[in-house]
Amino acid sequence: MRIKIRYATARDIGDLKKLDKAANSELKWWEQQSKSDFLKILKRSRNSILIAICDGKAVGYLQGSPDLVLQKAFIEDVYVMKDYRKLGIAKALVNKFVEFWHKRKKTVALITEDKNLHIFGKLKFRKVMNWMENR
Ligand SMILES: CC(C)(COP(=O)(O)OP(=O)(O)OC[C@H]1O[C@@H](n2cnc3c(N)ncnc32)[C@H](O)[C@@H]1OP(=O)(O)O)[C@@H](O)C(=O)NCCC(=O)NCCS
Repeated sequence: MRIKIRYATARDIGDLKKLDKAANSELKWWEQQSKSDFLKILKRSRNSILIAICDGKAVGYLQGSPDLVLQKAFIEDVYVMKDYRKLGIAKALVNKFVEFWHKRKKTVALITEDKNLHIFGKLKFRKVMNWMENR
């Protein structure tokens, strides 16, 4: 099994949309994006979306964004298809994002469910606050 992590381009939009759809059917909190949303993000920064390719198939991605004002870059979404988990794919996606943005921003932050704290703990993230919503 050969896994490659690279920056996504406009040619990956179809695959990103498929992964986003799979994430939305698995996780009720996952907000779907349209193909034009993905295109806008890619136009804003070519270093914002990483895609994981395994034997030619797109199996995961990470979407992030730098804060324009604060010294922070955010990981907005990380998703790896169920059959490809625990192979180090999220770790490779996160490490590549962190390596790039740590040179430009002080902190890389992300929001995740409590059940994932131990996974991101292994990737050197520490819990610093709670996320609250008013809908
Ligand atoms: C969270 C998620 C991205 C992890 O992806 P992954 O590719 O399986 O993660 P990795 O294989 O890179 O694992 C990273 C570390 O966490 C550990 N880990 C991963 N999943 C685990 C689990 N379910 N239970 C225990 N440990 C786990 C791995 O063993 C690895 O530890 P190591 O470095 O000591 O070997 C994946 O489970 C997923 O897509 N979940 C649904 C979407 C989601 O919740 N995203 C996060 C919020 S945006």
